[in-house]
Amino acid sequence: MELKEILRFADELVFSKTGNHLDDLQQAILRETFQGQRYAKIAQDRNCSEGYIRGVASEMWKIFSEVLGQNVSKTNVRVTLERSLLANISSPFGKNVLRIGDINICPQTSQSSKVAQKPQQTQTQPHMDLGDAPEIFSFYDRTPQLATLETWILHDRTRLIALLGISGIGKTILVVRLIEQIQTNFDYVIYRSLRFSPTLNSTLINLLQIFSDKTDIPQNIEAQIPQLLDNLRKYRCLIILDDVQMLFSSGQLAGQYKTGYEDYQLFFKLIAEVCHHSCSILISWEKTREIAKLERVNNYVHSLVLGSLGIAAKEILKQQNLSDEDAWETLINTYQGNPLWLELTTTIVQDLFGGSVSEFLQCDGVVLSESLQAQLDQQFQRLTQQELAIMIQLAKENEPLSLPPIFKTVQLSTSDLLNAMQSLGMRSFLDAEEQGKTTFFSLNPVMKQYVKNRYFQPND
Ligand SMILES: Nc1ncnc2c1ncn2[C@@H]1O[C@H](COP(=O)(O)OP(=O)(O)OP(=O)(O)O)[C@@H](O)[C@H]1O
Ligand SMILES: [Mg+2]
Repeated sequence: MELKEILRFADELVFSKTGNHLDDLQQAILRETFQGQRYAKIAQDRNCSEGYIRGVASEMWKIFSEVLGQNVSKTNVRVTLERSLLANISSPFGKNVLRIGDINICPQTSQSSKVAQKPQQTQTQPHMDLGDAPEIFSFYDRTPQLATLETWILHDRTRLIALLGISGIGKTILVVRLIEQIQTNFDYVIYRSLRFSPTLNSTLINLLQIFSDKTDIPQNIEAQIPQLLDNLRKYRCLIILDDVQMLFSSGQLAGQYKTGYEDYQLFFKLIAEVCHHSCSILISWEKTREIAKLERVNNYVHSLVLGSLGIAAKEILKQQNLSDEDAWETLINTYQGNPLWLELTTTIVQDLFGGSVSEFLQCDGVVLSESLQAQLDQQFQRLTQQELAIMIQLAKENEPLSLPPIFKTVQLSTSDLLNAMQSLGMRSFLDAEEQGKTTFFSLNPVMKQYVKNRYFQPND
């Protein structure tokens, strides 16, 4: 029987019991055990202790024993798995047969396919260290995004996730909600904001203190990184690093590390590439270049750009006791379903229009409260001159533009213009719409109004 088939069967067995797929190390142990390799050699090839490999292996044998109802050990694992697989394939309608994916396996429960899709929770209480994560008072529907993140983390064993989106769209609150939902699947759940731009050294010390005594923490990052990765292997951890954009330079293209912060790049790359069974979520306004690159080649890396809250944003308007429900969708669309933008705008509707959304929408142009403009100032301050030139040009246009007319109107070299366009995309500043083979770019009404207010001369 083919090795691939047995491995897949073993994976299904483990998943049916734990809700988790075999990780790289478990697969390697199985593969090499089948080839008669000794634990000492498997450990030596992976630079870890024999005891560690023995522990991971015996956990697996225990799971197989429980699921198959017979004693499984290193010496009989291959033959037992082969025999069970054959027995199940040859009697698909046999008594108590559980069907998972397209393989029939052991007796456990009759709710077969459900078990494969929804992992069992470990029911253990994780060690929670949420630092200064905000408390949720009300949470409006983000079901699809929560489901995507849950699938990536619990089912696909994703190691690194970038959660991206413009300020105020709800990234932090979404992750806090996600934590509530999936925390019992982890040994450690950790949240840290990088808003004050800590160096990698201080972030690592901060994280390592959660796992070990201060005196056991090495001083240099060359030793700290392996120690943290060891913990990501030893325990199942969910680590959230928020406000990652604070590691990037202002006035440069998106995702460029500040001087002295470049080693974060290696750290994130190692989290994605080294074998472990934990997950880290990076929350940022800007997508980093290495994530974009890793995502293309590494199945354990994903990114999610958070967009409009959609009609769920009506709850915000309801909470503010606004009237004219018929007009609410127009208000939500104008402010891009951005919960913060809506919150900062509804106070004006309340204070000056007696809560009437229709009256408010009669105003000339898009109204930007001072607090909303100040909020956007922080993001615009990060742009390069080239990016700003493109934003100013697009704010003058009534229709979306393809690249050739942008080239004509914005006086930049080809590479400067293309780099700046790409960077604006990484900051979620541009709306892009594909029509056939052509992409058309435009600004949303809030961005457009902001650029007009801040950068247009009276006769523009
Ligand atoms: N799904 C939601 N339900 C209820 N309130 C929400 C939701 N999403 C966002 N908000 C509200 O919008 C505001 C901004 O949300 P949040 O802080 O999560 O945004 P963010 O994307 O993390 O912004 P930043 O990048 O600036 O940190 C908060 O006041 C939050 O309460
Ligand atoms: Mg946030």
